[in-house]
Amino acid sequence: MNAQETSLNLKEAFKGKFLIGAAMNAYQIMGKDTAATNIIKKQFNAIVAENCMKSERIHPREDKFDFSLADKFVQFGTDNNLVVTGHTLIWHSQAPDWFFVDDAGKMVSKETLIARMKNHIQTIVTRYKGKIKGWDVVNEAINDDGTYRNSKFYQIIGEDYIKLAFQFAREADPDAELYYNDYSMSIPAKRNGVVAMVKKLQKQGITIDAIGMQSHLGLDNPDIKDFEASLEAFSSLGCKVMITEMDISILPFPDKNAGAEVTKSFEYKQQMDPYRESVPDSVTTAFEQRYLSFFKLFEKHEKAVTRVTLWGVTDANSWKNNWPVPGRKDYPLLFSRNYAPKPIVDKIIKQTLSE
Ligand code: G3I
Repeated sequence: MNAQETSLNLKEAFKGKFLIGAAMNAYQIMGKDTAATNIIKKQFNAIVAENCMKSERIHPREDKFDFSLADKFVQFGTDNNLVVTGHTLIWHSQAPDWFFVDDAGKMVSKETLIARMKNHIQTIVTRYKGKIKGWDVVNEAINDDGTYRNSKFYQIIGEDYIKLAFQFAREADPDAELYYNDYSMSIPAKRNGVVAMVKKLQKQGITIDAIGMQSHLGLDNPDIKDFEASLEAFSSLGCKVMITEMDISILPFPDKNAGAEVTKSFEYKQQMDPYRESVPDSVTTAFEQRYLSFFKLFEKHEKAVTRVTLWGVTDANSWKNNWPVPGRKDYPLLFSRNYAPKPIVDKIIKQTLSE
């Protein structure tokens, strides 16, 4: 029996355990890729926008918000009874230049940046109040060594920008869940840094409802034991854990520590792109084993894990085809380039039903 013949789909299989979601790209949100949106409606019960709510898109100038795509995205969620996550309010990357400078191009004061952050966060959160279940409030604020990332938010405001972001979001929608989201969360030093940051915030009265582990995984990296140690460490803080951007690359990694740092890029070389024509069975087996192991882990921790979201629908549009090496052919998701469920979908469903 293959996945197409399975009567159950992913969202039914994980009912009562955790939400299962997918990130939507602009074409899907605009209704130009109905084969993909049909997969979302059939298989998933949660969505997140891959790009259209990032600050450079939704707030391109100080006096101009562009809600055109974000409104459509949220409406798609409402119309199809999907749990909607907002991604992302405060992120150093994809933030428009105007955010940090004045008219003369000089870095703004702490007070000005705080006021801009407040306006940015509260305008967006208020607009979607009651329609968005939770927000990635702060994204990627901790370095792999556990220190604070030296972003412009950090340079101008200091670590308090994180606390303020959560306070502004909470004020705007007290009923929304608020998340901290980051990549490479298995790295022990990073885990410790995130734990220390969250503890400090909690002491200051900030509630972080969930910690998002992005989970851009490779076949061998990270070690699942390190991943589990982080999941347990985050959950022991009293936070839920969300797997927010899952994919499993089968391609060689030029730098195993690249994490999901979008600024890193490596030159294209043919030997780094080995599966343009086909994927060897041994690699497919390793890919399936890896997905099954991680889903088994999520189920083991189903009291802590409230959502598992894949970073895209089909392999065709995955960001992994262009990162960390542009122009490669990767196969990181659950649905193939021709929109068919891969055999792993059926295997994941069978594994969860046999638990
Ligand atoms: O839409 C434009 C298009 O008009 C233009 O012609 C083209 C030329 O470069 O760029 C297109 O925009 C690209 C966009 O993806 C849509 O494809 C941007 O250049 C590119 O930077 C952007 O990359 C996104 C990346 O975040 C940076 O925002 C990826 O799609 C997206 O998957 C990725 O997602 C991030 C999460 O938000 C946070 N965690 C890491 C994750 C992976 O980097």
